[in-house]
Amino acid sequence: MKGGFLPLILVVLFGIPSCVVSQFETCRQPFRCGVDIPYPFYGADRPVSCGAEGYEIICRDNIPLINISSLLYRVLEINNLTRTLRVARDDLWNDPCGQTQQPLNTTLDTTLFSLDEPSNDQNISLLYGCTVLPSQARLPNLFDCSGRAAFFFTTPVLISSFTCTGSEVTVWVNQSAATSLESNLSPDSSAQLLRTSIQGGFSIQWSADNQNCQRCLDSDGACGSDGSSSFVCHCVNNTSVPSTCSIGNNSFISLPHHCIYPDFFVIPFIKNLFELILL
Ligand SMILES: *[C@@H]1O[C@H](CO)[C@@H](O)[C@H](O)[C@H]1NC(C)=O
Ligand SMILES: *[C@@H]1O[C@H](CO)[C@@H](O)[C@H](O)[C@H]1NC(C)=O
Ligand SMILES: *[C@@H]1O[C@H](CO)[C@@H](O)[C@H](O)[C@H]1NC(C)=O
Ligand SMILES: *[C@@H]1O[C@H](CO)[C@@H](O)[C@H](O)[C@H]1NC(C)=O
Ligand SMILES: *[C@@H]1O[C@H](CO)[C@@H](O)[C@H](O)[C@H]1NC(C)=O
Ligand SMILES: *[C@@H]1O[C@H](CO)[C@@H](O)[C@H](O)[C@H]1NC(C)=O
Ligand SMILES: *[C@@H]1O[C@H](CO)[C@@H](O)[C@H](O)[C@H]1NC(C)=O
Ligand SMILES: *[C@@H]1O[C@H](CO)[C@@H](O)[C@H](O)[C@H]1NC(C)=O
Repeated sequence: MKGGFLPLILVVLFGIPSCVVSQFETCRQPFRCGVDIPYPFYGADRPVSCGAEGYEIICRDNIPLINISSLLYRVLEINNLTRTLRVARDDLWNDPCGQTQQPLNTTLDTTLFSLDEPSNDQNISLLYGCTVLPSQARLPNLFDCSGRAAFFFTTPVLISSFTCTGSEVTVWVNQSAATSLESNLSPDSSAQLLRTSIQGGFSIQWSADNQNCQRCLDSDGACGSDGSSSFVCHCVNNTSVPSTCSIGNNSFISLPHHCIYPDFFVIPFIKNLFELILL
């Protein structure tokens, strides 16, 4: 009873929106979700005004995820110099059969991402819901999906020579993964190798211009965007400019970094509260 009461009071007390934090302060905070996540990404506590529209990261148990064209991808690696992400499909992560009904094709939202060129990645096709002919029973590219057969193909094949009622889905894997998938496998090891190949991910490049951001950071600003999709640099004097903050003004003006609580009021109040509850 008492244990539940105190936190409630504290939440009420500290949750009062009695302070306004500037965009600069908000966007200058590092964004971490397992790894450090740079501009143009935002998400979790980080508003879109600290990133660029469309580059939202969903942070699930410290695993950064991104929704691209209705599919969730795990972000395995971020390189802010080459503007590349290495991503892997979340729906096929544990099980190449897919967690839900019918898996979708891997497709990029080309306004936000492009393939990292020259690409080190390769398309492979998965074919679900197949009937296995006796002659196909030991094919190395056969894998099982809850009793239904599925196949993967690293090169375009005559899909018509397979009898399948499920969908055909394109996924991307890196070159070394594709090479190992082409090597002679047994049906027993192929599912495992397919899984690790998908978990290896593929690389994509984001389109948002990080040079703007680097110049902004160099001027002691914080990168972000305005209400629409234009880049802005948030400055310490609580203005947002299209390019860079002027370093002179930035170093002279200093706004409070945190919300100012009326300490003289809060501290005795909490002390009294403790005494009230504990004694
Ligand atoms: C920054 O400016 C906005 C409006 O321009 C205002 O609402 C906010 O209170 C200001 N923040 C600080 C910390 O001064
Ligand atoms: C990119 O990363 C480097 C090193 O971690 C950092 O100094 C730089 O500020 C980052 N740039 C952007 C645009 O986040
Ligand atoms: C991904 O985004 C689409 C719309 O853009 C939405 O319909 C879908 O629910 C999202 N998926 C997840 C897992 O957030
Ligand atoms: C995926 O793409 C292939 C060819 O590009 C197409 O034949 C197939 O129907 C697509 N699959 C789905 C599930 O949309
Ligand atoms: C996969 O195939 C599509 C369509 O044929 C192509 O645009 C894309 O570049 C390929 N992706 C990779 C990673 O090879
Ligand atoms: C390629 O994929 C494999 C998994 O099959 C992974 O172990 C490896 O790290 C990936 N290589 C690169 C360069 O991404
Ligand atoms: C705030 O800083 C920006 C960039 O340094 C400067 O252009 C602008 O004049 C400043 N505004 C105010 C009100 O100080
Ligand atoms: C600094 O800010 C003032 C307004 O407060 C502005 O008039 C002046 O131009 C700024 N200086 C620089 C170097 O941008």
